[in-house]
Amino acid sequence: MKQALPEGNFLQGGPPTSVVLVTCVDSEGNPNIITLGMFMYISQRPPQVCIGVAPPRYSHDLIVGQGEFAVNVPTAEIIEEMHRCGVVSGRDVNKFEDTGLTPIPAQRIISPLIEECYGHLECRVVQTHTCGDHTLIVGEVVAGSADADVLDESGNQILTKAKPVIQKNWNYHTVKKP
Ligand SMILES: Cc1cc2nc3c(=O)[nH]c(=O)nc-3n(C[C@H](O)[C@H](O)[C@H](O)COP(=O)(O)O)c2cc1C
Repeated sequence: MKQALPEGNFLQGGPPTSVVLVTCVDSEGNPNIITLGMFMYISQRPPQVCIGVAPPRYSHDLIVGQGEFAVNVPTAEIIEEMHRCGVVSGRDVNKFEDTGLTPIPAQRIISPLIEECYGHLECRVVQTHTCGDHTLIVGEVVAGSADADVLDESGNQILTKAKPVIQKNWNYHTVKKP
């Protein structure tokens, strides 16, 4: 039997999302981290991804203002740090110092990558759209990298080794082969 969802709760009929940690910088190069469930691939050629960021987030104007961001993919091992980056603001806290996550240089952008994450997409902002209460930010991927031990001989990601995080309502899970 299907249960009709009340207005305001329609999205409970949708799937869980992956969780990513997006890094960005202010105009002086100071870094910040924001936890996002709103992430998706949108083009393969050229490679483009999009993220949804609410305008009140400190990271919003950093990403739009500097025109770049990095998508870092956390493993289940850093769920606590991942969650923390989604409940405190870079306005108040230096999240790298607060969580102990390690910034490492990116190849093509100023925003740092997060060493403890297993995969990284370096992006330049190519479009922004206001969508309800979030801004959809499209980024062109200008470089990518991943931990060697989560890749097979063909360079493809092995999900059971990578242990990405998926969530619905901040309930975190990782993947298991059915
Ligand atoms: C699991 C999880 C997913 C989240 N997804 C989003 C999202 O997709 N978009 C968004 O704007 N905020 C999202 N947030 C909220 C921001 O991460 C949170 O407001 C954060 O403190 C903003 O940091 P900032 O002010 O340093 O930018 C999420 C938080 C959590 C814990």
